[in-house]
Amino acid sequence: MNPLKHVAIIMDGNGRWGLKNKNSRNAGHKAGLKTVEKIIKESIKNKIRYLTLYAFSTENWKRPKNEINFLFSLLDNFLRNRIKELHQQKIRLKIIGNKNFTQKLNKLLISAEKKTLKNKKLQINLALNYGSKFELLNAFKDLKKSNSIINEKNLQKYLSTKDIPDPDLLIRTGNTKRLSNFLLWQLAYSEIFFEKKLWPDFNEKDYNRIIKKFRNIKRNFGNI
Ligand code: IPE
Ligand code: IPE
Ligand code: MG
Repeated sequence: MNPLKHVAIIMDGNGRWGLKNKNSRNAGHKAGLKTVEKIIKESIKNKIRYLTLYAFSTENWKRPKNEINFLFSLLDNFLRNRIKELHQQKIRLKIIGNKNFTQKLNKLLISAEKKTLKNKKLQINLALNYGSKFELLNAFKDLKKSNSIINEKNLQKYLSTKDIPDPDLLIRTGNTKRLSNFLLWQLAYSEIFFEKKLWPDFNEKDYNRIIKKFRNIKRNFGNI
């Protein structure tokens, strides 16, 4: 049975779900947040140590203003209402991506990170304004500046995922088979599951079915 330390998820399909069920993309984002809560709980049950959630990409700024504003207001509310509870559950929240939001939101994010820094039950990496190409470019620049030898280990020190193992498992919901600029380096050897269901329809059962399948895959890492 494969150990499972790190799960990464591309939570896709909120907009389509919202349009189909409530005639509003934003309603889909709201519903998607409920799935986030379910998956956090289920991750703890499965003793997963790291959960990386793709919430907003560097490319998502192309979307209409009203959708972007709604997404960040959801995030703002979530942090205000839930951070205390997450902290009590020994969950650490870490933001990966470039924190260049409003001063108010940046402050809130930094304070949530600080508050939960020492928690060791589950680390949630929330990918916000995250793009893998941007991350890698900056890592290459920093590595060059450091004058250290250019090798994998040293490059890794400058990634937002430094100190944590690469994802064992990547799940993308929403019936699309692409990576959309997510963790291109870190996913080099991850097991990938593309799910037809839209994110708000994805549930504990689906998650556990994937985990069960993952546990039984023969992972070679180039070996036989
Ligand atoms: C993913 O759902 C959430 C974000 C990108 C914020 P989408 O909003 O991309 O949903 P679809 O793919 O348009 O249905
Ligand atoms: C990927 O979903 C980003 C997140 C889930 C945050 P998108 O819906 O933005 O991906 P593309 O643009 O369809 O590839
Ligand atoms: Mg999408």
